Amino acid sequence: MAKSKNTRKMEAAGAGIHSKFKSPDVRIGLVGLGYVGLPLALLFARRGLRTTGFDIDAAKVEKLERGETYIRHIPASEIQAQLKAKRFRASADFSGLKEMDAVIICVPTPLDEHREPDLSYIRNTVEAIATSLHAGQLVVLESTTYPGTTEDLVLPILAHSGLHCSVQPYEVVNNEVAVSGEDGNFLLAFSPEREDPGNKQFKTHQIPKVLGGVNAASAWAAQALYAQVFDRTMVLSSSRAAEMTKLLENIYRCVNIALVNELKLVCMRMGIDIWEVIEAAKTKPFGFTPFYPGPGLGGHCIPIDPFYLTWKAREYDVPTRFIELAGEINSAMPEHVIDALGEALNQRKQCLREVRVLVLGVAYKKDIDDLRESPSLRIMKLLQARGAHVDYNDPYFPRLHKMRHYDFKLASVDLTPASLASYDAVVISTPHSSYDFNEIVRCSRLVVDTRNATNEVKEDREKIVKC
Ligand SMILES: NC(=O)c1ccc[n+]([C@@H]2O[C@H](COP(=O)([O-])OP(=O)(O)OC[C@H]3O[C@@H](n4cnc5c(N)ncnc54)[C@H](O)[C@@H]3O)[C@@H](O)[C@H]2O)c1
Repeated sequence: MAKSKNTRKMEAAGAGIHSKFKSPDVRIGLVGLGYVGLPLALLFARRGLRTTGFDIDAAKVEKLERGETYIRHIPASEIQAQLKAKRFRASADFSGLKEMDAVIICVPTPLDEHREPDLSYIRNTVEAIATSLHAGQLVVLESTTYPGTTEDLVLPILAHSGLHCSVQPYEVVNNEVAVSGEDGNFLLAFSPEREDPGNKQFKTHQIPKVLGGVNAASAWAAQALYAQVFDRTMVLSSSRAAEMTKLLENIYRCVNIALVNELKLVCMRMGIDIWEVIEAAKTKPFGFTPFYPGPGLGGHCIPIDPFYLTWKAREYDVPTRFIELAGEINSAMPEHVIDALGEALNQRKQCLREVRVLVLGVAYKKDIDDLRESPSLRIMKLLQARGAHVDYNDPYFPRLHKMRHYDFKLASVDLTPASLASYDAVVISTPHSSYDFNEIVRCSRLVVDTRNATNEVKEDREKIVKC
């Protein structure tokens, strides 16, 4: 497509200042090699950009350097290919950050014990970057956070280096930023990570890359860099808008899931199958996006990120009632599963105390090896608290190690007809594709299905309780 006069003028201005970000010779440092950082590092490497991944977890770094993987859906062969091509390496030595032209931050942003943002990972990472920051270096934060983090937290820490970068409003016209001069001697931007682990439909590079700079030069440089590897970039007029975009996406999911969870409870009382209703509603070709009920929210994002905004909104005296309500409804779902199981046992003249229950799936969603915030864990804890004997099966988790809130000391039990039959009830919490639900229903005495996983099971339906 022919470039407009405007584009050429702006490119000339930008290229004059930071043309290296358009070049495949740019050196990328990616800090935090987790579910988000590792795939992104490999994407840059695949596209021919020399990428170094930094992580404080020496065990992860050593594995990567040996060409091994620790994330199930990222094949070791891909890591090995990039190591061999010398486009990717991993390091725990943060002094190497000074050799990078761009440093991208993908570290965790959890909530603390008071359910307030825990920014210690970002803070520690940025302090490490500040010690080796150099003029012309671009720093991009990707971790999900509240609007203002890049400008108000990251920028002042980087400025301790003695270098500067000023927050300056800029305009975006036709997805382009005009750069008229320097706004400092380092560059700073935010670009939300939109990874969906296990999603086979969209590859990382196909998901449009939203970004915003603290000034025009930063936005220009970040867009030039990401345009080298993503099919589409979208530049916003500030880092705050980019931070808020990610929160909108996650809050939208959180609130809509809460809505269907609440409607599920109403439908159950009315003897209506919510799943059938959603299938019907989604035939409408416009104005409806399906969301599905379940045993509660899980993962690093949806149960956590909305509360980053709630926390920040307090500063502006604006209550975030939708978020609070959605949190209340979603976090009550594991209790609802326990109630449904208790009621089904009651019908069979049994009670939760001392029954044997098998929970299927501890990952927070199907076919992935991530159990952070998984509602299955809460269900197991609640069952134990009521005196039930609990076991689990999950092909992705042969054993459950100690976690921040849980220490089950359990190993995944084998799924055989005999083992299924030995439990008073089986709870389907995460419907991994490897599960044979016909077989599970056939061999079990009672099946509590939180995911509509048994919808197509034809035999023994009287054993199934949907909840
Ligand atoms: N997992 C997802 O599906 C997902 C999707 C979109 C956005 N996000 C966001 O991306 C960010 C990262 O999430 P994740 O799931 O990749 O987390 P993760 O826990 O899988 O990975 C984080 C990595 O950062 C490393 N780390 C921690 N502190 C560090 C430090 N000071 N220096 C260097 N490395 C450090 C950890 O060792 C770990 O390897 C979070 O803000 C999250 O909300 C995650």
